[in-house]
Amino acid sequence: MCGIVGYVGKKDCTQVLIDSLSKLEYRGYDSAGIAVFENGGIHVEKSKGRLKDLEEKMKKDGRPYGHCGIGHTRWATHGEPSDINSHPHGNKRISIVHNGIIENYKVLKTFLMEQGYGFESETDTETVAKLLDYYYNGDPLDTITHILAEIQGSFALGIMFRDFPGKIFAVRKDSPLIVGTSEGENFIASDVPAILKYTKEYYLLEADEIAVLDENEVKFYNVHKARITKELQVANWDIDAAEKGGYEHFMLKEIHEQPTAVKTTISPRIAEGLPYLEESGLSTDMLKGYRRIFIVACGTAMHAGLVGKYVIEKLARVEVTVDIASEFRYRNPLIEPEDLVILISQSGETADTLAALRLAKDRGATAMSVVNVKGSSIARESDIVIYTHAGPEISVASTKAYTVQLSIMYLLAFELAYAKGVISKEKCMELTASLSEIPEIYENVLELKNRCQFIASKLVNADSLLYIGRGLDYALSMEGSLKLKEISYIHSEAYAAGELKHGTISLVTESMPVIAIATQQDLYDKTVSNVKEVKARGAKVFMVCREGVEVDEDVADYTICVPSIDDLLMPLVVSIPMQLIAYYTSVLKGCDVDKPRNLAKSVTVE
Ligand code: M6R
Repeated sequence: MCGIVGYVGKKDCTQVLIDSLSKLEYRGYDSAGIAVFENGGIHVEKSKGRLKDLEEKMKKDGRPYGHCGIGHTRWATHGEPSDINSHPHGNKRISIVHNGIIENYKVLKTFLMEQGYGFESETDTETVAKLLDYYYNGDPLDTITHILAEIQGSFALGIMFRDFPGKIFAVRKDSPLIVGTSEGENFIASDVPAILKYTKEYYLLEADEIAVLDENEVKFYNVHKARITKELQVANWDIDAAEKGGYEHFMLKEIHEQPTAVKTTISPRIAEGLPYLEESGLSTDMLKGYRRIFIVACGTAMHAGLVGKYVIEKLARVEVTVDIASEFRYRNPLIEPEDLVILISQSGETADTLAALRLAKDRGATAMSVVNVKGSSIARESDIVIYTHAGPEISVASTKAYTVQLSIMYLLAFELAYAKGVISKEKCMELTASLSEIPEIYENVLELKNRCQFIASKLVNADSLLYIGRGLDYALSMEGSLKLKEISYIHSEAYAAGELKHGTISLVTESMPVIAIATQQDLYDKTVSNVKEVKARGAKVFMVCREGVEVDEDVADYTICVPSIDDLLMPLVVSIPMQLIAYYTSVLKGCDVDKPRNLAKSVTVE
C-alpha cells in the first residue's frame, strides 16, 4: 500500500525523500512523487512507475533542492496509475500525501465543485487537498481539525502549507504513521525502515493526533488543538535488518533469517522447559478459561492460523474456528464474551484483520494478536499482544513472518493442552524441546537450496500446478501454493489429497505438475494412494517426504526429503522448501521477486 515519508532538517531533502521511499518500496506501489519547499514555493515532481522513473523525470524537469518536503509511493485504489493521479496533490499553497481511503470523498467532491473547485485527478486524495484549501484560514492546525471533522475512512496524511516553509504537518486515522526524530532533523514515515538510516527514535502517532515538525522539534496536538506529550519509542531493528546484506533478494535473505527469527521468537517464551506466555499478559488460567477460539487473519497469516487450529484441536481438544478476515465480520460470527479471538498479522496494519479485532472487542471477547510490528494498530488495540520477533520483513512474500507465527501457534497449543490436563507435563516438555530444535534443523533444511532450485527448473514452464496433502500437509500445501502463485505468476491450487477425485482430478494431465506433501506418518499411505491416482493420469509428481522414507519410482518423479521431527512440527520444516521452490521459480521466470505485480506488503484498505 502507499508509503509516506517527510523530512525537515539540513540535508538535501530530495535525496532523503528518495532514499526513504526506497525503503518503503516493499509495500507495493505503481507511482511516486515528492513535494519540496524551494524558493518560497512548493516544487512538486511526480511520475507513474518506479522511483527510478521519478528520478529520470526529475533529470528532465529539474530536481527540487530544499531542506523540507514530503514524498509518496502510491498503490492505486481510486484511478489508474498515472502521473496525474500520483501524489502529492494540492495546489500552489497546499500539498499533501495520503495513505488510505477517504470513504465519503464523492460527497465532499460534489460540495467542493459547487464551491467552484475543479479536479484534475480521479483520486479521493485530491478531495482532501481541496478541502484543506477550502478551510484554510492562515492557521494550519485549525484547518486540519476542520477537515478531520469531515473526512471519513482511513488516512495518514503528510501536509505542507506554502505559508509555513520548513514545517510538516501530519495526522492519521487507521493508516500507520510514525514521526522520527533526531538532532536537528525530523521525519514522518509509514514504517520504521524508512527512517532507520537516520534515526532509531520515533513517536507513534495515534488516531486524530496532529504532529507539527520543523527541524528543531516535533509538537503534538489533539483534535482540540491542545498540546499533548507522547512517549518516545526506540526501534530494535538496525539498518542491516532492512538491507539485502549480500543476498540477491530480500526474500532469499529472509528465508535464511528463519533460524534466528524462530529462535528469537520462542526463546523468551520458554521457561523451565515449558511454554511461558505470561510476559505477554496471557496466564495459564486465562488460557484455559476460554470457551472457544477464533483465529482471524489474511493470506499467509491465515495459513498459519490453519496450522494453529489443527494443532490446538488435536492437542488441547478445544474448538478452533479459522476465518479469512475479509469474510469474518460479514458472516455475523457467533462470538461470545467467553471466547478468545486471535488475530495474526505480520504488519499489524491489515485493514480486514483490524476490523475483525474491533468486532471481537465489540462483542466482549478477548482479542489477542500475534503481530510482528511493534506499536502497529492491531497490536495497540488488542487486549493481549504476543510479538513475533522476525525483524522487518521487506519482501512482499511472507516467509520468516509465517514460521514465527507458526512457532507461537505451537507454544499456545502446548500450553493450552497442558493447562487443560490433556497432555502431561512430560509430553508438554517433550514437544517444547522439539520446537526448540527447529532453529538448528533449519540450518540443514536450508541446505536443500540446490535441490529446490532444480525442482524449480522443472516447474518453470508449467501453466498450472496442484499442491496436495492431507491434514497438516494440506494446510502447508495452501501456503506453498500461495507462495508460488504470488511471486511466479504460475497458477496453482492447493487441494486436500483425498478430495481430488471429487472433481479436480479431471484437470490432471501430463502438463499439470503436482507437488505432493506427505510428512504425516499416520496419513502417509493414504496420501501415496492419492499420489498414484494423479500419477496414473500422467502428472509429473514432486513429492515432499521425510528423510529415510523410500518412495517408489511409480509414485513420484522427484522427491525432496526433509529432516524428520514430530509430525505436528513438520509444517515448520516443510515451509522452507516450499518458499525456496517458489523463490527459484520466480527468479527463473525473471519476475520481480520482492515486489510482485499488483501486490502490496501491508494491505491497509478493505
Ligand atoms: O501483514 P499481514 O500478516 O496481516 O498480511 C496478511 C497478508 O496480506 C499476507 O500474509 C500476504 O498473504 C503475503 N503477501 C503472502 O506472502
